[in-house]
Amino acid sequence: MKILVAASEAFPFCKTGGLGDVVGALSQTFSRIDEHEVVLFLPRYRSAGQGAFSFKAVPGNFLIPVGGAIETASIAMVHWGKITVYFIENSKYFDRPGIYRSNFGDYEDNDERFVFFSRAVLEGAKFIGFKPDVIHCHDWQTAIIPAYLKTLYRIDSFYVKTAVVFTIHNIAYQGMFPKETLLKAGFTWVDFTPDRLEFYGGINFMKAGIVFSDAVTTVSPSYAEEIKLKAEFGRGLEGILKYRSADLYGIINGIDDEIWDPASDTVIRRGYDAKSFLKGKSSCKKSLQHECGLPENKDMPLAGVVSRLDVQKGLDLIAGIIPEFVDKIQFVILGSGDSSIAESFSALSKNFPACVFFKSGFDETLAHKIYAGSDVFLMPSRFEPCGLSQMIAMRYGSLPVVTRTGGLKDTVRYDGEPKDSNGFAIDAPTYTGMHSVLGHIVSLFKYRELWNAMVKNAMSGAYSWSKSAEEYLKLFAATIQKKSNL
Ligand code: ADP
Ligand code: GLC
Repeated sequence: MKILVAASEAFPFCKTGGLGDVVGALSQTFSRIDEHEVVLFLPRYRSAGQGAFSFKAVPGNFLIPVGGAIETASIAMVHWGKITVYFIENSKYFDRPGIYRSNFGDYEDNDERFVFFSRAVLEGAKFIGFKPDVIHCHDWQTAIIPAYLKTLYRIDSFYVKTAVVFTIHNIAYQGMFPKETLLKAGFTWVDFTPDRLEFYGGINFMKAGIVFSDAVTTVSPSYAEEIKLKAEFGRGLEGILKYRSADLYGIINGIDDEIWDPASDTVIRRGYDAKSFLKGKSSCKKSLQHECGLPENKDMPLAGVVSRLDVQKGLDLIAGIIPEFVDKIQFVILGSGDSSIAESFSALSKNFPACVFFKSGFDETLAHKIYAGSDVFLMPSRFEPCGLSQMIAMRYGSLPVVTRTGGLKDTVRYDGEPKDSNGFAIDAPTYTGMHSVLGHIVSLFKYRELWNAMVKNAMSGAYSWSKSAEEYLKLFAATIQKKSNL
């Protein structure tokens, strides 16, 4: 199969969260199965690759209409394992400090930036002569590619057999813009109807992906149900999702088990695995406590957080409850995003320096050390399409504390019996629920045999991409087949 993946992030080139992890690892996994030919298209942000890769220019350039203007696109490529990554270049749109935003908020021309990118992917594939059997698009930034294929490119012979699959990573970010964006993208008013691109008087990129793709997936079975059945999860798109429910699939994410492997992780103090983790984990905990200026106490549970600071993640709940547990639990928090959430954690670390450490920012190295050095990992999300952090935490033997929603519900088992559990779960992100589960953790931590049985369960879970990547490939094959029968 010839697979073209189009996305706005992919680790290790550019990442703001789980989307980047998934696009990078899943594309690599596709290329290792049955010799599928995989190319990945990304924007060439200023920080892309951070000097760690050698970019080779593809000679020439091509033109992309954006509104009334004509913009120039060029391509640089990087060979990455069996994949070739094509970076779309345009300095006006991508040569900036951030990926989506500056310190003052989202870039105001994000509609134009991703209109340009999406169309440049379709023109770029022609430019390099890669005729895909399937295009796999991710989240709103590339969600108008399916709309292009079914409108402007409908009779383009290059794409006549190409199937398109769209994956929703987070429906909370839909790419909603005023109706003028419709014209910038080159669509016509004929497409501006509620069953196509129109959404409350504007244009909604994610809706375009749902309406025009041959198949739609999201990143866990539970989230697939939640977004089509409940308005608070579907965020206005539940109707269209229900309409497309025959073509909507929930496929659980995996994690990159080479990057996230406590046995071979070179960043952490001492490696360990599921068979023998006691010495390794306690040495990683001690080293984390030392680095964070916390007392080196092995008998007090250490709770870690590595997160985007966003209302989605229920972090306000954690901030609210910390004062109740300062003499019973140590907290190490790493996060970037919302400044008011950051301020609340900064204040807590100033007030309780002996048990709360907070670092604001994005830090891959510290993230690894937190997963390895913590006993529990807090993730009481209000909604969670899948969540990778809880799986990474489990692989590192840090027991996740989650809410029963989306992918958290599908990956964390907690039924009261430690020997059958791999973490802790509460039904809803409430103060009472969180208070009671943390209280339980403080008591259970004293019963090391039970605790270690849970750690073993967590560490021996299957979190790799192999099974889910096969599910995607099966879906791609079926979608291509269906398309060729039309
Ligand atoms: P989301 O995509 O909603 O942010 P996920 O759990 O799917 O949540 O993925 C989060 C990914 O981003 C994980 O790899 C996590 O380790 C990483 N991450 C989140 N915040 C930070 C941060 N401040 N520093 C380093 N890594 C982070
Ligand atoms: C989103 C979701 C997260 C998911 C990630 C990768 O950022 O918030 O739950 O794991 O995408 O699919």
